[in-house]
Amino acid sequence: MKTGLFPGPGGKGDFKKYPVWDQRYVYDGWVEPFVSAGHQVHRYLAHGLIKRAFVSDIDPKVKATWFCWRSPELREIVANRINGVSPRLLIDPIGLYEEMKAVVDSGTQSPIELSVASLICRYFVFGNTLRSNRKGKLNVCASKDKTQSLQKKAGKTNDYPQLEPGFLEDLNQGWRFEWPWFGDDWNVSFSNSWQQCLDAFESSNCQNAIAFVDTPYWLPPKSRPGRRGTGALTPAYTHHGNPQGQETFDLFINCIDRLLDNPRVGRVVATNYISDELCFEVARLLDKRKREWWFTPLGTLATMNNGSHRDDCPIEGFWEFGGRRMAGRYDQLSLLEAAAA
Ligand SMILES: C[S@@+](CC[C@H](N)C(=O)[O-])C[C@H]1O[C@@H](n2cnc3c(N)ncnc32)[C@H](O)[C@@H]1O
Repeated sequence: MKTGLFPGPGGKGDFKKYPVWDQRYVYDGWVEPFVSAGHQVHRYLAHGLIKRAFVSDIDPKVKATWFCWRSPELREIVANRINGVSPRLLIDPIGLYEEMKAVVDSGTQSPIELSVASLICRYFVFGNTLRSNRKGKLNVCASKDKTQSLQKKAGKTNDYPQLEPGFLEDLNQGWRFEWPWFGDDWNVSFSNSWQQCLDAFESSNCQNAIAFVDTPYWLPPKSRPGRRGTGALTPAYTHHGNPQGQETFDLFINCIDRLLDNPRVGRVVATNYISDELCFEVARLLDKRKREWWFTPLGTLATMNNGSHRDDCPIEGFWEFGGRRMAGRYDQLSLLEAAAA
């Protein structure tokens, strides 16, 4: 099943690697304050395991896309608009990309314009990653590989531009945008910040929720994780903040702290890079509470630009508080356990 609203950086669509849901328990709400494409929440909604979700993301592009996805009318308009431009993939792909990039950079308040433009831009850029400069403007170019593969999918023929009549119909069959499934009986609230997301959850009737905290990743300042030059880590996407700044560290710790304080949250799962500083602070949070928790190193990020095989790359960690330990267990589940889950 296709999960998540779009491909992109930090996506948690590998459910064996990131087993957030612990299959034995029943939860009545899902809280995901740093949702982005939302692979995890989408999967469990689509499987019918939850109907109520509270999510948020600070990125207006993400917000616009969730806004359109949740409305049948807007879903149709956006899909038609994206599919309507596919002929331009053949005729003027770079012009199309530049035009869409300008829409994203214009700061438009229209969710339709912004989700159409940002979804199209993602198809064109390396790693589907919309990076931006300090002023918040996209600073990524269309990748040659991506453009060529889009053109191929769109049905590029060797005899272009001497195209046969009807080529536009053929073209539309070769490349089509489709939204991932959205169920009419799902109740998904989207907020603009992680604090508002937790406020929305706290004022709901949910009694036993599961929360997934996937903040922008953090590493200590001056650490040089598998990097040349200054060793400084650059933001991986528009709202990564400073990956070595205190505010990025605080996002992770403060959000977990607030969730753990809530007795109506039965399980919290969190991911980040492993560092002594972060592990120490998480352990300190747990010292104040008497909840069971587990920590599992996951290895290097497979999607890192500089190759996950280098032994000085940062390692991802997986923290589980409450519920049942899942990391590393997936392959050990017996058939009986799987059937009972
Ligand atoms: C690592 S990504 C999450 C990826 C997601 N789990 C997925 O599967 O696609 C972190 C997200 O946090 C968002 N973010 C950063 N600061 C935030 C804040 N203060 N409140 C809410 N979201 C924030 C970023 O825009 C980004 O989309």
